[in-house]
Amino acid sequence: MTLKELLDTWPQEKRAYVVAERSWACDDPVLSRAFAKELALSGREAAAGILATLVGAARNRLEEAMEGQYGTVSAVSGDMKALVEKTASEFDGVLGRSAAIKLKAKAQRSILKANFGDLAGCVTDQKMGIPFPGIKATPDGATIERLPAPDRSVVRVDSIHDVIARRKSVRSWGEGSISKAELSWLLWATQGIRGGTSGHPTLRNVPSGGSRHPFETWLVVRNVEGIAPGIWRYRPVEHDLVLVRPDADLETALTKAAREQDFVGSAPLTFIWTVIPYRTEWRYCTAAHKIILQDSGHLGQNLYLAATAIGCGTCGIGAYDQGLMDAIVGVDGEDEFVIYCAPVGRLKG
Ligand SMILES: Cc1cc2nc3c(=O)[nH]c(=O)nc-3n(C[C@H](O)[C@H](O)[C@H](O)COP(=O)(O)O)c2cc1C
Repeated sequence: MTLKELLDTWPQEKRAYVVAERSWACDDPVLSRAFAKELALSGREAAAGILATLVGAARNRLEEAMEGQYGTVSAVSGDMKALVEKTASEFDGVLGRSAAIKLKAKAQRSILKANFGDLAGCVTDQKMGIPFPGIKATPDGATIERLPAPDRSVVRVDSIHDVIARRKSVRSWGEGSISKAELSWLLWATQGIRGGTSGHPTLRNVPSGGSRHPFETWLVVRNVEGIAPGIWRYRPVEHDLVLVRPDADLETALTKAAREQDFVGSAPLTFIWTVIPYRTEWRYCTAAHKIILQDSGHLGQNLYLAATAIGCGTCGIGAYDQGLMDAIVGVDGEDEFVIYCAPVGRLKG
């Protein structure tokens, strides 16, 4: 049965749902947000809302001939069948693609497994004696911003119970900047070094499988006292920042890279973590990728807890545009790419 035949057997609300879902599959964050809001309503109200969303979808996305016909929600309901018929073949294509993507999702499950059995049949680069890649080089003449030593005086909530109880994802910001002392402490909490080595690998305040620490921390600074707006990279060994590029106007680009999640672009400070997979592959080969994902969760959770402890909030961001976010920090997208982000700001009120 084709999708068109299937749709013909469905009541109008269900067809509206499929059309809206198809628009969602078209990767339109604005539309999908509107759709999610409508879903929060209930019953026929939701159906009407979805149809209203479709007016936008029809105007923006479907054939020019359709344009202008949908002035009101009631007009849409009359023309719904025509709309579905006109786009049925396109929907079939989307369904076909969706089936392929769902198969891919199943195939990807293998990286969630502990693939340590593979190591028995593999001479890893570590075993071959290939040197572990060193820490990232800093360009000659780069501007360096020294950070104050991490100091617990910035902590406002110091009961671990209260910090855990108050932790939540925050998506809107109160007034006020982040102080340099607070930034220093957040960086210490997420990637700070606690073991006495002068290079990589190191022991840090987050755990990492095999202590490989495959992440680099980049900051989009918009409103941090005493630090120029722009992109900075954290150097854990030196506990300082390297200026990647000054830029006072990153809000639009960052929001776009965060797939229109505007609270990311408007935050006074955004952490962007990249991964250099080889640091972990060097030892664990195909078992590395699960470990890397687990490592990144520790980074995110330490930022959540640390931000809460200083009276700020954050939100883990997994839904970003890979290419645009990689471009913001200027990594190649192959040997190093963005794995996670988190805006930080003051709590409201
Ligand atoms: C890996 C990961 C990725 C996430 N990505 C996003 C995101 O892109 N946008 C967003 O608004 N929230 C994102 N979140 C936040 C979750 O939506 C949030 O943790 C969840 O709704 C539970 O709420 P809570 O953190 O307040 O307990 C993400 C959380 C995690 C752990």
